[in-house]
Amino acid sequence: MIYSRIVGTGAHLPTRVLTNFDLEKLMETSDAWIRERTGIERRHIAAEGETTVDLAERAARRALDAANVDPKDVDFIAFGTTTPDLVFPNCGVLLQQRLGARGGAAFSVETACSGFMYALSIADKYVKCGEAKCALVVGAETLSRITDWKDRSTAVLFADGAGAVVLKPSQESGILSTHLHADGTYKDMLYCRGGVSTGFPDMEPRMAIVMAGNEVFKVAVTQLGKAVEEALAANGLEKSAIDWLVPHQANIRIIQATARKLDLPMERVICTVAEHGNTSAASVPLALDVGVRDGRIKPGQLVLLEAFGGGFTWGSALVRM
Ligand code: ACO
Repeated sequence: MIYSRIVGTGAHLPTRVLTNFDLEKLMETSDAWIRERTGIERRHIAAEGETTVDLAERAARRALDAANVDPKDVDFIAFGTTTPDLVFPNCGVLLQQRLGARGGAAFSVETACSGFMYALSIADKYVKCGEAKCALVVGAETLSRITDWKDRSTAVLFADGAGAVVLKPSQESGILSTHLHADGTYKDMLYCRGGVSTGFPDMEPRMAIVMAGNEVFKVAVTQLGKAVEEALAANGLEKSAIDWLVPHQANIRIIQATARKLDLPMERVICTVAEHGNTSAASVPLALDVGVRDGRIKPGQLVLLEAFGGGFTWGSALVRM
C-alpha cells in the first residue's frame, strides 16, 4: 500500500494587519460584536498590487524548504483559490513558472473555502497511484479583493493569506482518506456576485461576496459534524484516536460545535481564526502550518482536517503526520 504523506508545510501572510478597532473606524461595527459572534480579532490584508500567487509563492517555498525539496522536482501542483490573479493561465501554472518547475500538471480548483480540501484530495489520488512523485498543494486567497467594504455583515470576516503542503509517496503512512461533498441547491446563500460569463452588475464593487450568514452557519455546523464522522467511520476509528482537529477558520462557534461533536477539548484544536480571520481556501493549510511549526502537531499523530464553503462545498481528510 502506498500512501501520500505530508512531508512539509508552509504559510505566508501579508504584512498589513487590520484589527477590529481599525474596522470600527471604517463601518458601523464594534470589536465586541466581531469577537463575540466570530472570534476574530485581526486579519491580514494584501498590499496594493500583491496578488494571490505572490502570497502562494512565499508559502510554497517555505513548504518546499521544510520538505527539503528542490522546487524543480515538483511534478504536480493543485491550487485552491477563488481569487485568481488571472482568468487564465490558472494560478497553478503561474506558481509553477515562479518556482521554475516545468512540464508537470498544474491547475487550480475553485471550490471557495473548501478549495484546499478538494486540491488535497485530488493530489492524494495522483501520488497514491504513482502518477505524481512530488505534489505541491496550495490554498491561497486575496479575499479582500472581492469584499464589499460597505457591507459590515461580510467585511469583518474575510482576509488574505496562503498555505501549502508538499506530498510524497510513502510506504509507512500518510493521508488515510479524504471525503468531498457539494450541494448546489444552496448556491444563493453564499456566492460572489459578478462573473466573466454572467457579466458584472451596475454597482460598486462589481464583484463582492454575498452571504446569508445565519443560514450558512446552520448548514455548516450540520454538514461538518457529518463529515468528521464519515472520516472516522471510513477508517474504523474512534473519536478518541484523533490527536488534532485542524478546522476551516470561519467562525469560532462553528469550530467549537465541530470539536464538541468529536468530544475534543479546544486544547486539541488548532485555532487561528482570531489572528487570521476567514482566509477561505488558505485557512486549513495556514492553521496546519501553525500547528506543525509551533511543535503541537508531531510526526505520527492523527490529524483531522475539514472545511466548508460557498456552493455549498465541504470536505474532510484524516491524515497521519
Ligand atoms: N457589526 C455589528 N453588527 C452587525 C454586524 C457587524 N459587523 N454584522 C451584522 N450585524 C448585525 C445584523 O445587522 C443584525 O442586526 P439586527 O438584529 O438588528 O437585524 C445582528 O447583527 C445579528 O446578525 P446575524 O447575521 O443574525 O448574526 P450572526 O450571529 O448569525 O453572526 C455571522 C453573523 C458571523 C456572519 C455568522 O452567521 C457566521 O459566521 N456565519 C457563517 C459564515 C461561514 O461559515 N461562511 C462559510 C465559509 S465562507 C466562504 O465560503 C467564502
